[in-house]
Amino acid sequence: MSRPPSRKRSYTPEPWRIKTVEAIRLLPTDERLRALGAVGFNVSMLRSDDVFIDLYTDSGTNAMSDRQWAAMMIGDEAYSGARSFYRLEEAIQRYYGYPHVIPTHQGRAAENLISRLLIRSGQHVFGNMYFTTTRLHQELNGATFHDVVIPEAHQSSSDHPFKGDVDIDHLRKLIAEFGAEDVAYLSIAATVNMAGGQPISLANLREVRAVADEFGIPIILDAARAVENAWFIQSREEGMAGRSVAEILFEICSLTDGAVMSAKKDSYANIGGWLAVRDPDLADRARNLVVVYEGLHTYGGMAGRDMEAVAQGIEESVDEANITARIGQVHYLGGRLLDSGVPVTTPIGGHGVYLDANAILPHVPEEEFRAQTLAALLYARAGIRGAERGAVSAGRDANGANRFPELELVRLTIPRRAYTQSHMDYVADAVIDLVADAPRYRRGLAFTYEPDVLRFFQARFEPLQADAFAGPLTTTQ
Ligand code: F0G
Repeated sequence: MSRPPSRKRSYTPEPWRIKTVEAIRLLPTDERLRALGAVGFNVSMLRSDDVFIDLYTDSGTNAMSDRQWAAMMIGDEAYSGARSFYRLEEAIQRYYGYPHVIPTHQGRAAENLISRLLIRSGQHVFGNMYFTTTRLHQELNGATFHDVVIPEAHQSSSDHPFKGDVDIDHLRKLIAEFGAEDVAYLSIAATVNMAGGQPISLANLREVRAVADEFGIPIILDAARAVENAWFIQSREEGMAGRSVAEILFEICSLTDGAVMSAKKDSYANIGGWLAVRDPDLADRARNLVVVYEGLHTYGGMAGRDMEAVAQGIEESVDEANITARIGQVHYLGGRLLDSGVPVTTPIGGHGVYLDANAILPHVPEEEFRAQTLAALLYARAGIRGAERGAVSAGRDANGANRFPELELVRLTIPRRAYTQSHMDYVADAVIDLVADAPRYRRGLAFTYEPDVLRFFQARFEPLQADAFAGPLTTTQ
C-alpha cells in the first residue's frame, strides 16, 4: 500500500525542558495594521506586546537557564574587584583563550574601545563583510572599511559551505594598494551576520593569519557567534568531525590577536559583552579607556549578576547538545521553507533564516526597499517580526547616495531556547503563504523620516500601494 510522502523533517529533541513561560498573543488584524501604521511601517519600532513571534533578533532575547538565574543570585556587586568579574574572566580565558579581558555593557561598546585604540584617522580596516555597528565605530574613528569576503557571500543562492571566508587575493591586493602601515587591523567575523550567519573555515582563517603575520597587521575577531561558527567547522570542514566545539572555538581565537564580544548572542545572556586582547600594553590602554565610557575595568557597564549570567552562559554555549539543538532549530525552519521553494539564503546559517526579498518581491522597485516592505507585510499578515537586512540597513555612501547591496534580505532570527517547534511551523506556514501571494505586491515603501546613523532602527515610511496593508491581507489562507 502506498502512503503519501511524509513531510516530517528530522528534529532532535531539545536538551532542556521549560520551567517558566511568558504569555504571547496574536493581535487581531486591524490592531496589527494600526500598530504598524503608528510606527511608520518599520517593524523595528513595534512594541513587543504587539508582536506574536518575535524574530527581530537573537541578541539578548535568549531564555536563560535555571543555572544562570541561580548564578545571578550570587552576583557580587562590588564596584571594584567583584568576584563575578573574576569568574567571567576565568570563563573567557578558558574557552576563548585571551589573557586580558575588559568587560563592556554589550558588543558595540567593545567595538568603540578597540576602534579608538587601534585606528589612526585616515587608515583602513578590511573585513569579511561589514556589520552595522562595527563599521560605524570604525568610520567614527576615521577609518574606511573594505569588504574582503569571498564573492559567494554576496550571492544569496550560492551553496558555498564557508561563505564567511576571506578572499585572500583581494586582501593582498588591498594591502599592496594602501600599504600595511595604513591598515589598522583585520576585522574578522565568525559567523558573518549580514551574509546570513555564514561561517569562516579554519583553513581560511589560518591563511588570513599568515598574511597578517607577513605584514604585521593585527586580527580582531568579532566573536558574537563564534561558537556557532565552531559548530559549522566541526560539521563541515574536512578532518574536524572528531574535535569538540570547545576545542575548535579555542583554535579560532588562537589565530587572532583580540576579540570583541556581544555576550547577548552565543552566551545566552540578556545583556553583556567584552573586549579581550593578548597584548598586555594594549590591555592596559583598554582598561584605562573603559573607565571613560563604561565603568571600572572590573565591571565595564555590567552588574555583577550579569557577569555571572554570562560566565555560566559561556559554559552552556559550548555544550555539544545545546549548540546542536540551537542550530538544529534554525535548520528545521530553513528546511521547511526550502522544501516549499521559498527563496532563502543558502546554506542555512547559524542564527536565522534569511528571506531573499529580491526574489520574493521582484515587482517592487529596488528603491522602494523590498526587504523593508517584506518585513512589514510579514508582520501585517501574521504578527511575525523579522529584521530588514538590505538597503535600509546599508545606509548611504560618502556621497549621500543610498547603498543597494546585492543582498536584500529579511532575517528571521531565532532567539536561543525561547520558541518551540510549533512556533517554527507557524512561521514557515505564514512565509509560504506570503510568497504564494507575492505577485499582488508591486509597490514598496518611501521614507517619511530618515535618521543620520543606523537609520534602520528608527526610520519611518509610508506605503506606496494602499491595498497592501488594508482589507483582507491574505488571499491564500
Ligand atoms: N557584531 C555582530 C556580528 C552582531 O551581530 C552584533 C549585534 C554586534 C556586533 C553588536 O553587538 O548588539 O551587543 O552591541 N547584532 C544584533 C543583531 C543587534 O540583531 O544582529 P551589540
